[in-house]
Amino acid sequence: MANIPWRRIAITGASSGLGRALALACATPGAVLHLAGRDAARLAGSVEACRAQGATVAGTVLDVRDAAACAAWISGMEGLDLLLANAGISGGTGGQSEPAAQVRAIFETNVQGVLNTALPALETMALQPAGADGVRGRVGVVASVAAFVAAPGAAAYCASKAAIQRWAEATDATERARGLRLHAICPGYIRTPMTAVNEFPMPFMMEPEEAARRTVEGLKKGRTRIAYPWPTYAMARIAGALPLGLRAWAASRLPAKPRQGS
Ligand SMILES: NC(=O)c1ccc[n+]([C@@H]2O[C@H](COP(=O)([O-])OP(=O)(O)OC[C@H]3O[C@@H](n4cnc5c(N)ncnc54)[C@H](OP(=O)(O)O)[C@@H]3O)[C@@H](O)[C@H]2O)c1
Repeated sequence: MANIPWRRIAITGASSGLGRALALACATPGAVLHLAGRDAARLAGSVEACRAQGATVAGTVLDVRDAAACAAWISGMEGLDLLLANAGISGGTGGQSEPAAQVRAIFETNVQGVLNTALPALETMALQPAGADGVRGRVGVVASVAAFVAAPGAAAYCASKAAIQRWAEATDATERARGLRLHAICPGYIRTPMTAVNEFPMPFMMEPEEAARRTVEGLKKGRTRIAYPWPTYAMARIAGALPLGLRAWAASRLPAKPRQGS
């Protein structure tokens, strides 16, 4: 269990993968956790596991695409020190056209869904007294190293992650004046149900617990961009800097992430 300097913590997508690992990393005695997910049974599993570690935990079945429900979830909390907007979906092209419904679902979940919790959380936090570090509250958005490369095999996913990474980093610069911090969390490959469908090599794959540990370390250090592991981050930056024609040529020779539901 990590030493966590924040007491009141909300996490979306806490029913699986990285979100569950983040919840467990934050579940210390004295912590008040608000965990959200869509799947009630798996969410209940995360809630129980966190309670077993001594945290006070509330679980809420929540679809992050529902703006009103997200605002109600945030406003129902008695103070919030840290929101981790982690819920997200992925999907690739399978080497073909990306289905329109998949493109819309990815943007609705990964962009609108993040804003649906992050924006009300910032307003709630702005009204709170500042802590000893001068910060009233923090919002971490879970983007990806995919934010740094427009991969033709996962167009909507990469674009959605770039949108929230850039929004969080730019907003962090302005919201500091209100005592608020934003963090763009950009992991490489993590062993979760999201990557279990991928049939291509995933170098430097991490366990969710390791990704959660690195995320918490980055938050504690106050990093605006929390990108890890460095080899995957460096590869994404280099791939993202390649000429577009070369990138498209390389992508046409590499296996693409499967489409959703395929
Ligand atoms: N795995 C990786 O390699 C990797 C790398 C970089 C970034 N990420 C990012 O990390 C985050 C977590 O992904 P993961 O790998 O842990 O995947 P995961 O195991 O599939 O978990 C995704 C989580 O998001 C929730 N979710 C999805 N759509 C939702 C919606 N509309 N409303 C509310 N919750 C929703 C899921 O809830 P239910 O299960 O309850 O439906 C689940 O808890 C995502 O944002 C992903 O893009 C993952």
